[in-house]
Amino acid sequence: MGLDEFIQSAARDAGRIQKDAFGTSYAWREKSGRGDIVTEVDEACEKLIIDRIRRDYPDDPILSEEAGAIGIEEDRPVWVIDPLDGTRNYALGIPCFCVSIAVVRQGVPEVGAIYDPIHDEMFFARRGGGAFLNGEPMRVSDWDTLEDAMISVAWVRSKVHSARYLRIIERLSKHTSYFRRIGSAALVAAYVACGRFHAYLQGGLHPWDIAAAAVLVEEAGGLITDFEGHPIDLRHPSIEMVTANPELHAMLLDQVGWRK
Ligand code: IPD
Ligand code: CA
Ligand code: CA
Repeated sequence: MGLDEFIQSAARDAGRIQKDAFGTSYAWREKSGRGDIVTEVDEACEKLIIDRIRRDYPDDPILSEEAGAIGIEEDRPVWVIDPLDGTRNYALGIPCFCVSIAVVRQGVPEVGAIYDPIHDEMFFARRGGGAFLNGEPMRVSDWDTLEDAMISVAWVRSKVHSARYLRIIERLSKHTSYFRRIGSAALVAAYVACGRFHAYLQGGLHPWDIAAAAVLVEEAGGLITDFEGHPIDLRHPSIEMVTANPELHAMLLDQVGWRK
């Protein structure tokens, strides 16, 4: 099995664990007192994915949400894993979550798979090879105005100041009231990649939240940068990003006043 098939198969099988246990396993525990939570299902999915990588790519470095960094070396591609993105949704019985797996070289994602097991949707992209939803090519939307744009704005209270994001919402609300926050960063960004959402802004992300989604968006014709328009660096532990099609992305940077 080639890497493209391997990464989708691992995501699909982890997703099966999520779907099978959904509605039965709501117990969670807090991680390091930051409001982050984890369930047994996060851990079971992570074990499946890491075991698969260890079997087929035994020497490859891994960065996974629960297990942390394993054998990271500067020059080697890293598997970046969010075994269950949207844990709080999952634990509360809200059917909006996914598996996210990426291969990242020196901070740049090369291959990404995001799988939503409830809707059986596989989002996949390889740099230079296009982006696909269940095997069909996908594109970002061509919505080129802030008026009535469908935008997700989200942040992590413990990592960024809420006031900054409330100001952003206040500015954008002059143009749109179609704000959505669905509780899974990887899935929101995948929805930008396939044109369902027009834009997404968030602060306080971890590399595993957004690694796979970043290659999806770019291969689908979108941009994903920090708030100043610089490329996001997946080696950074706390990432702030805006993603949209190029026209809307430029408007977001300009009109909300982050550009000098
Ligand atoms: C979280 C979700 C959430 C986002 C947080 C993430 P988790 O990931 O993606 O939507 O706002 O920043 O940490 O903990 O469910 O994997
Ligand atoms: Ca996550
Ligand atoms: Ca997670």
